[in-house]
Amino acid sequence: MSLTAVDHKEHVMPRNATSKSSAKTAAKSSHRRTAKSSHDAIKMLTEDHRKVTDLFDEFEKMKKRADTDEEAKQLLIETACAELTIHAQLEEEIFYPAARDAIDDMDLLDEAEVEHATARQLISELAAMQSGDDLYEAKFTVLGEYVKHHIEEEEKELFKKVKKSDLDLAELGEELHERKLELHAELGVEADEEEMDEEDAAIAPNSRRHIH
Ligand SMILES: [Fe+2]
Repeated sequence: MSLTAVDHKEHVMPRNATSKSSAKTAAKSSHRRTAKSSHDAIKMLTEDHRKVTDLFDEFEKMKKRADTDEEAKQLLIETACAELTIHAQLEEEIFYPAARDAIDDMDLLDEAEVEHATARQLISELAAMQSGDDLYEAKFTVLGEYVKHHIEEEEKELFKKVKKSDLDLAELGEELHERKLELHAELGVEADEEEMDEEDAAIAPNSRRHIH
């Protein structure tokens, strides 16, 4: 992990902070928790789903346009794969474990994790390829079909059950939000403007970088 990532972690996880500024950081974070209690976990994850679905739909439109250059398609593929990687990690690290404690359908969560593993495999294969390679675009299209199927099941079954449980979705949403900013910074992926306020930008300055 880079020094930047360690510094950043100290800011977003003040409970583990050991620096002299930890008290100040903790106070700041406590304020943020109050101010940002509107982050609902299901709403956040559903918005992520829409975002990646839109990218896959945009790619299919690009493929049909004769004037689309290869670079634009590759950039879209890299963006979608980065967003998916962050989203999958958020669910695996935070959302699925919380859901396992809150609902009694372990099969549903096991299947979701297996589906994530398959999607991750396709993403890593795409990362080792570039525009123009055989099956590059086909692989991304299949990833899109696969992810859309996974999203539909997740929203229709898993999210419904979690909503009915007594899980604190606001608290979970806050945890997801902070980890999301951290992952954006670690991967050097630009976060959406609407996802970041000025305070977030100060905490995760690297989140505004574009994909390399
Ligand atoms: Fe998922």
